[in-house]
Amino acid sequence: MSSAETSRSIDTVMREERLFPPPEAFSHRAHFKSLDEYEVVWEAAAADPPAFWEKLAREELHWFEPFTETLRWNEPQSQPFVAEWFVGGKTNACYNCVDKHVAEGRGDKVAILWEGEPGDSLSLTYAELQTEVSKFANALKSLGVVPGDRVSIYMPMTPELAIAMLACARIGAVHSVIFAGFSAEAIADRNNDAGTKVMLTADGAWRRGKALALKETVDEALAKSATVEHCVVLKRTGQEVPWTEGRDHWWHDLMQEASADCPATPMDSEAPLFILYTSGSTGKPKGIKHTTAGYNLYAKKTYEWVFDYQEDDVYWCTADCGWITGHSYLVYGPMAAGATCVMYEGAPNHPAEDRFWEIIEKYKVSVFYTAPTAIRAFIKWGDEHVDKHDLSSLRLLGSVGEGINPEAWMWYHTKIGGERCPIVDTWWQTETGGIMMSPLPGAIAAKPGSCTKPLPGVIPKIVDEQGAEVGADQGGMLTVAHPWPGMLRGLWGDDDRYKEVYWSKVPGKYLAGDNARCDSDGYYWIMGRIDDVLNVSGHRLSTIEIESALVSHPAVAEAAAVGRPHELKGEAVAVFVTLKDAEPTDELRKELKLHVRKEIGALAQPDDIRFTNSLPKTRSGKIMRRLLRDIAAGKELVGDTSTVEDYAALAKLRDDEE
Ligand code: WTA
Repeated sequence: MSSAETSRSIDTVMREERLFPPPEAFSHRAHFKSLDEYEVVWEAAAADPPAFWEKLAREELHWFEPFTETLRWNEPQSQPFVAEWFVGGKTNACYNCVDKHVAEGRGDKVAILWEGEPGDSLSLTYAELQTEVSKFANALKSLGVVPGDRVSIYMPMTPELAIAMLACARIGAVHSVIFAGFSAEAIADRNNDAGTKVMLTADGAWRRGKALALKETVDEALAKSATVEHCVVLKRTGQEVPWTEGRDHWWHDLMQEASADCPATPMDSEAPLFILYTSGSTGKPKGIKHTTAGYNLYAKKTYEWVFDYQEDDVYWCTADCGWITGHSYLVYGPMAAGATCVMYEGAPNHPAEDRFWEIIEKYKVSVFYTAPTAIRAFIKWGDEHVDKHDLSSLRLLGSVGEGINPEAWMWYHTKIGGERCPIVDTWWQTETGGIMMSPLPGAIAAKPGSCTKPLPGVIPKIVDEQGAEVGADQGGMLTVAHPWPGMLRGLWGDDDRYKEVYWSKVPGKYLAGDNARCDSDGYYWIMGRIDDVLNVSGHRLSTIEIESALVSHPAVAEAAAVGRPHELKGEAVAVFVTLKDAEPTDELRKELKLHVRKEIGALAQPDDIRFTNSLPKTRSGKIMRRLLRDIAAGKELVGDTSTVEDYAALAKLRDDEE
């Protein structure tokens, strides 16, 4: 095969020919009904982003005091590289998410439909939510929490977790939610970095029927968290807990004494709303800082646009509140819109592999938002779990967190969506605060594997190493050319790193850290993190491309591709594969190599194929590529690679941050 032929065939996996236009019935009642309509709005917003956002901010948020300046943005050549939106205004994110609906007569609408892992459930209206949040806000005040104080939250996915976040917002405290799977060490690091004053947790958390000892882990962390004065404990599992008198308080005791009268505190538009720690390319987690008005508006509008919010929707986002998706699309976005949100506490396969589908049937979920890693697990578990349930209430499906392989996209489309539901593949990051690129489901036809087009007010540019914009179909670094209201406002306590990571490499633009290309239809294809892209014999290869090719083979459940040093090629492709039912034989290894060669081309053919029972993943479900790279490079001892290895066990030896 000539090199021209090879590079043409590389493109075939990611250049999906299939186009899925929005179903007529869907477009008919959608917010954006046609591509033309989207383009008109996008062009107008791009011509004057501040004017576009100003109008929305005035109309859609409640203002205690109106803002006087829409955007204060020192061109990033100067200091401090931080955009300020809606300057001079005062609002409150909790008010916008709760009180506004009650004030406008929608207090009886259900806000949260909660399903506990053991099968218990609870429903809360917006009016009830207002009472609970107000009481807990008073409880926090009784512990001395004042505006600007940091509150760490390490809780299971219970309604109280959302109540805690909103209660912080209500009184201007800054929450830092720490996913309830992190270690004591990780909690302490975050507490110390944020200077946390109060810690919220629970006695335990249900996970596949077992009670995890959250309070014990927190106690271990608090021994190393000098700034923490109080710890509030929700009783969830009822297990025995260690107790420190004076420092520890039961949630229910505080609530019993708390008054439900706690008006939302008017906060500056740019008052910090929360910190959320996320992993960077180096070891130390970054405390991504988001502020009040811009974030709240961005979460609300992007929720309404992308999920085509309708008053009667039952919306379910499966993300944990420990991640940005839980912040923006379980709490701040849908609640600002006044949506009814399903919240589920536990694992997708407890008590059985059909739990998600059972929940969809039970609550008649109409909009479902989950991650490709979950979708691939469902595929592996088998269609019989899906077939047991009536999923006809669904009208829209979403995906987030990583690129969705075309194969998984097709399964999601046919098996879950019954070929009638559009799929929104949403590209964004903890840093962006909300979705940046996604199909608007009534307007933009989907191409499986592409996050399609930027939302109104978002101006992406793909640039080369010199910062020059590249042409259609040329890969490059994804940047954003104009500030948007949901953007991060810095890294907590680390201005230098903020500048260095996001603003130094490409002057004047936000550097996302992903590679992407834009095809001639203006569709964007994310090619993985900058450091996940392989360079094999001078050719740019995305790990996702290779993984997609492998997953399209009937024997393969999940695949991860990494580069390893190679004398001649620079980098060689090494892949890690989990199988559905097939035997891990040498024949199959050969067959898979040929399959990738067939799907992508000779240069993408893996040099190594290793079979594994499970891929090592971070607790947020991301494949631990650095660990795999070390295994592939022979830096990590794994024993005999001709047998099936359980690399997930190795992951436990590593810091979860990667
Ligand atoms: C990746 C999650 C391809 C990407 C909201 C990004 C995606 C990182 C997609 C952010 C997508 C997220 N297609 N890649 N639809 N969504 N990513 O901060 O590499 O946990 O930079 O935010 O996930 O991950 P984070």
